[in-house]
Amino acid sequence: MPTMNRQWILARRPVGEIAAGDLELREAPIPEPGDGEFLARTIYLSLDPTNRIWMSDQDQYMPPVELGEVMRGGTLSVVERSRHPDFKPGDIVSGVAGWQDYALAHIAQKLPAHRSLPLPAYMSVLGMTGATAYFGLLDIGKPKAGETLVVSAAAGAVGSIVGQIGKLKGCRVVGIAGSDEKCRHVVNDFGFDACLNYKHANFAQELARACPDGIDIDFENVGGSILDDILARINLKARIVLCGLIATYNAKGPVPGPYNFAQLLMKRAHLEGFIIIDYLPRLAEFWQEMPGWVEDGHIKYDVTIRRGLEQAPEALKLLFTGGNTGKLLLQLSDEP
Ligand SMILES: NC(=O)c1ccc[n+]([C@@H]2O[C@H](COP(=O)([O-])OP(=O)(O)OC[C@H]3O[C@@H](n4cnc5c(N)ncnc54)[C@H](OP(=O)(O)O)[C@@H]3O)[C@@H](O)[C@H]2O)c1
Repeated sequence: MPTMNRQWILARRPVGEIAAGDLELREAPIPEPGDGEFLARTIYLSLDPTNRIWMSDQDQYMPPVELGEVMRGGTLSVVERSRHPDFKPGDIVSGVAGWQDYALAHIAQKLPAHRSLPLPAYMSVLGMTGATAYFGLLDIGKPKAGETLVVSAAAGAVGSIVGQIGKLKGCRVVGIAGSDEKCRHVVNDFGFDACLNYKHANFAQELARACPDGIDIDFENVGGSILDDILARINLKARIVLCGLIATYNAKGPVPGPYNFAQLLMKRAHLEGFIIIDYLPRLAEFWQEMPGWVEDGHIKYDVTIRRGLEQAPEALKLLFTGGNTGKLLLQLSDEP
């Protein structure tokens, strides 16, 4: 086992896109677990759009990462050494060990010893992004058979699962993604009824054609002009599930609100923002349904895996350039 731990430290708050020097790769000795602690080696690091939010000091849903701290990140790890009665070497745990090879912990979620799916499934469809899709759509979107559901970032980790749950509930599902190839993937592999490339010049007209009965539910992952085009088509009593606004996370200053905001009033629509951490007490509901859907093939998932801790800042940028399909993971070390 190596003696040194590599860690990405937040050295400076990015302005706009992440730039060289915002994060610094440093080395520190691998720590020894004290009483009640265990040392875990990270296998997979989750790269998420919200990582960019955590790097900023804007008002947000949890404290930002402080300058000089190890960058925060969700992880799947294997316990290497333990002085904790409930964790033994070889246990696979999910947690928030951050952008580093090794981390000490005293608490983590243990994965079941007998697993029917590969480990990346527990970082995607059975992890936080799967739960975000599940609770956001079912709890806030309240889909009913025959309704039209529109999903932005449809080829991504959350969006691809939202659309498939929508199909299970009998909705007509229209995805939105950034390339024709991604749109084919969304329709052919995830079973959406249609998918539109928002980079097409006539996107607004294509959206109107794909939603002839208007839009009952918008699962909003992006914001910006895509949200405006959707708001222009919403039906009476539409639900807008405000999950994310990735189009604005790299903004250098204040961003304008939706131009079609008035449609919320005219259509008596319901817009609700949500953050998945509020649903943690209800995860058992998700665990009861989602694994079965995946095992019986009703829900498919996709992962984009890059390798090497040193790649973390560059790999994170893929989320903002559309370089991923499905859940973006960074593999730091081999699975046991
Ligand atoms: N509320 C919560 O608790 C919660 C939890 C998890 C995620 N989220 C949010 O959900 C959204 C999706 O997250 P994810 O983890 O599933 O990421 P993802 O969809 O797997 O990846 C992000 C995708 O966003 C698209 N994108 C990036 N910049 C864009 C832009 N300017 N305009 C349009 N599309 C853009 C890209 O796809 P294209 O190639 O299609 O452009 C990219 O692949 C994010 O907004 C995230 O913050 C919220």
